[in-house]
Amino acid sequence: MDFSKPIEIADEIFWVGHVIPDDPFQCHVYLIRNGQESVLIDPGSEKVLAEVLDKIFQLTSLKNIKYVVMHHQDPDITGCFSTLEKLFPAGERYIVTHWRTKVLLEHYNWKTPFYLVDANNWKLQAGDRELEFIFTPYAHFPGAICTFDKKTKTLFSSDIFGSISNKFFFFAEDSEDYYKGVEFFHKHYMPSKYILRYALDQILEKDPELIAPQHGSLIKKDMIEKVVSRLKNLNCGLYLLEAAKENSDLNKLIKIEEWIKRLFDIVIFGSSFENILKAVYRGLKEEFPEMEKITVLGYCDGQELLFSVGMERSKSHSFKVEEDLVYKGTKIGELNIQFRSELNDEQKYILHLLISQIRNALSVSLKRELDFIRLEKKAETDPLTGLYNKEYLLSFIRQLITRNKDFSIAFIDLDRFKSINDTYGHLTGDCVLKELSTILKNKFRSSDCVARFGGEEFVVVAVDMDGKLLCQKIDSIRQEVSSKEICGLNVTFSAGVTSFRIEDTLDSVLERADSLLYRAKQEGRNRVICDSG
Ligand SMILES: [Fe+2]
Ligand SMILES: [Fe+2]
Repeated sequence: MDFSKPIEIADEIFWVGHVIPDDPFQCHVYLIRNGQESVLIDPGSEKVLAEVLDKIFQLTSLKNIKYVVMHHQDPDITGCFSTLEKLFPAGERYIVTHWRTKVLLEHYNWKTPFYLVDANNWKLQAGDRELEFIFTPYAHFPGAICTFDKKTKTLFSSDIFGSISNKFFFFAEDSEDYYKGVEFFHKHYMPSKYILRYALDQILEKDPELIAPQHGSLIKKDMIEKVVSRLKNLNCGLYLLEAAKENSDLNKLIKIEEWIKRLFDIVIFGSSFENILKAVYRGLKEEFPEMEKITVLGYCDGQELLFSVGMERSKSHSFKVEEDLVYKGTKIGELNIQFRSELNDEQKYILHLLISQIRNALSVSLKRELDFIRLEKKAETDPLTGLYNKEYLLSFIRQLITRNKDFSIAFIDLDRFKSINDTYGHLTGDCVLKELSTILKNKFRSSDCVARFGGEEFVVVAVDMDGKLLCQKIDSIRQEVSSKEICGLNVTFSAGVTSFRIEDTLDSVLERADSLLYRAKQEGRNRVICDSG
């Protein structure tokens, strides 16, 4: 490659820099030849001005340069301009930069006016050439910008993608020598990997065909992805200095940030509340090994639901944190974290910081869980009596059959219920249904199923209870009901009781219980008929 002449890198875009022999820090200057609205990009230092001018003259005359882009104010970009400005013939000319750079450049006392990209919608129309500017703050100056030529999709990246290397490649190569130079430059020049990542993302959004940095090598399309992925994983600046210290505040903050990011992913992608709580536990445990247990109490229609992760090993807890979980101004639960030993002030500060970050996420996912439980309950509950409904009963029996569980079943029907409704009205009828439901529910375990089958019919499924025992139980309830007033009335019921047999299906066991009930009705009501002796 002949570096003594301008090199055309894209249509009417030329490299007009100078390769300094044995200098690991090469600086590039570019010219967009565009008639009387030509654009000079990062003109460079006094050190190379003569060679740069020589190349410009091979392409155009100085009077045609209307715009001089300065991506930031470093001497390797602007050092020559005091001289260059004097060489420019009179004419309309602008320094194109960001306002933060301008406030520094003004101290050179140049005469050339500024064109501020931030005040011009980040665009410059130079004749038929449209340039766009990309804001890459802190990479490596607060007002740092890059330039994108829309026509050729060439991106002038200033210091980003720069390199310090003993080997000079004009175009980037997929070799460790090249990557090493780029990484070495960025490690020390970019303040942090997050700042660099942001800048890289902004640049990638333009989908450039060619990247023309101010230092190092030009990057053709097929190499861009490779360099970017190396740079995105690079620890830079502050992170590089601090990462070596295991217990530095910054290191802790990085860890915490990564942990919170992971947690948010879990919350957003709809995992169960239990999984979210486990993730919180794992994250906190890394930071606070003395933590023993996290519990969350959720309020659901007057009931309290407990979620917990971890084990209580010590009897007394020297430290615990209690926080309300609030959703849209309403307290929906409580978070409780227990530690086996006292935390120091710094740990408390970090814990407080973490909890303040995760409390909202926890509240939202708790709300989601409670809503789900509420809906599930609603779908399986009879609204009048609060007992399980027929759908739930059927799936409950199906599950028992699948799991080979023994059970007995009672079909219960209120006697002459229609006449109660007709004589005393539906409100009294409803009152009787509710009272009987409460009596039935209180006589059975939570592992059994007491359901309203429909109308005035109820079904009790008693798990691991033989038919004889269930029969006795139902009969004693029958006696209790018939001997007292319910909603001011004398009420009786009839029932049929049977137990599940090996050859039974869901239908056959229900039909048998129902036919026993029918017999009870036929034989005069207010009785329980059982088929199990
Ligand atoms: Fe710089
Ligand atoms: Fe530079």
